[in-house]
Amino acid sequence: MLVLGMMSGTSADGIDVALARISGAPPNLNAKLLDHASSKFPSPVRKEILRVAEQQPISAGELSQLNFRLGELFGDAALAACRRFKVSPRRIALIGSHGQTIFHQGRATSYLGSPTASTLQIGEPSIIAARTGITTIGDFRPADMALGGQGAPLVPYADYLLYRHPKLGRVSLNLGGIANITVIPADARPDQVFAFDTGPGNMLIDALIQHFTRGRQQFDKDAQLARSGYLSRPLLKALLQDPYLKLKPPKSTGREYFGTPYVKKLLALANRYKVKPNDLIRTVTTFTAVSVADALHTFVLPKHEIHEIIVSGGGAENPLLFEALHLATLGPPRKVYSGSFPRRLVIEMRLPDPGRKAAPRPKDVSFLTILRSSDFGIPVEAKEALAFALLAYETFHQRSSNIPSATGARGPAILGKVSYAPPR
Ligand SMILES: Nc1ncnc2c1ncn2[C@@H]1O[C@H](COP(=O)(O)OP(=O)(O)O)[C@@H](O)[C@H]1O
Ligand SMILES: [Mg+2]
Repeated sequence: MLVLGMMSGTSADGIDVALARISGAPPNLNAKLLDHASSKFPSPVRKEILRVAEQQPISAGELSQLNFRLGELFGDAALAACRRFKVSPRRIALIGSHGQTIFHQGRATSYLGSPTASTLQIGEPSIIAARTGITTIGDFRPADMALGGQGAPLVPYADYLLYRHPKLGRVSLNLGGIANITVIPADARPDQVFAFDTGPGNMLIDALIQHFTRGRQQFDKDAQLARSGYLSRPLLKALLQDPYLKLKPPKSTGREYFGTPYVKKLLALANRYKVKPNDLIRTVTTFTAVSVADALHTFVLPKHEIHEIIVSGGGAENPLLFEALHLATLGPPRKVYSGSFPRRLVIEMRLPDPGRKAAPRPKDVSFLTILRSSDFGIPVEAKEALAFALLAYETFHQRSSNIPSATGARGPAILGKVSYAPPR
């Protein structure tokens, strides 16, 4: 089956589209990424998404309009991708569209006198199906939440299918707007997989760049601005006190926490510590990397033998973020082998003694490798879109694809809603 997966994450930088050929059924499901593309949101649309995602007021009418407008943009992105891939939409059996999250409250909070959790991804799937002529599955999260889960993360199912290994423990790290990890112990069963958001991904870096360039630049291309600044250790230390980092998993976060108010706080801190703009960008880039490494050292490595960390998402394209992640996770390299993969970095390292009640390790020397998903044939910017192609395929076959140990759901759920293509 040829399946398109479409994703727009918390960065709201645009729509990523992945084309996959998928066959079989778990545990013998085969997925091959054939191609990928991405398209940008028109600037006023992006501004409105970010405004709404920060919980600024919007009328019901405007929200309804935005849902349909995004449906058109997702539909157009699918058609544009087909033209680029030189594949007729008629050959594509199915689309899985994540949509754009504008609100996510995974844990119940009191609302009108009752504890309520909810989530909202927009980009109307019926519009996508009508525009492309391809049956579209969307709205994946509510079915998991209806079973008491947090509706997130959903990518761990794909991580499990793509990365599970009989001998190697692996962590899949996605650096999108928010950074999240999936832990897949060696030879794991689905119920041994767990996942959580470690904290910011590109969100704070992007916001600072947009602030200092007055919107002329959206992100720190190739870390050029961060590289021209210096790290402020006192500020880094202050940032690492953030209470989210200390919270025990499972936990999830988003623009609600690491959005505009957080950035205001950052700018005030920078003032207090007399940190210049480029120094702030560098320090926040380092903070992002250290917060991920911290989560690994606190919540993962003491309990699980991990051999590989596989990085995806736009943040994997930020060279300074990637280097800092490497340093913060593994410490300074002792030996660097450059294997057959040009981007593969293998570092021999001595894991720091976690000093916690950790399971005894067979040896105190372990090999941990940091790789990119592209080393597995999945370009870093296509990984999440591919995941939603996989989830759509599972739903189409009426199989569940949430991982209850990752979302907290009472049990398996068949995710999403089907919008059929108009009859031909
Ligand atoms: N060449 C690059 N240099 C630095 N950062 C990059 C580069 N390419 C992508 N990024 C970062 O990746 C982000 C987009 O990542 P993405 O995985 O699409 O996030 P999301 O899933 O939240 O949409 C950009 O906003 C930017 O911060
Ligand atoms: Mg994106």
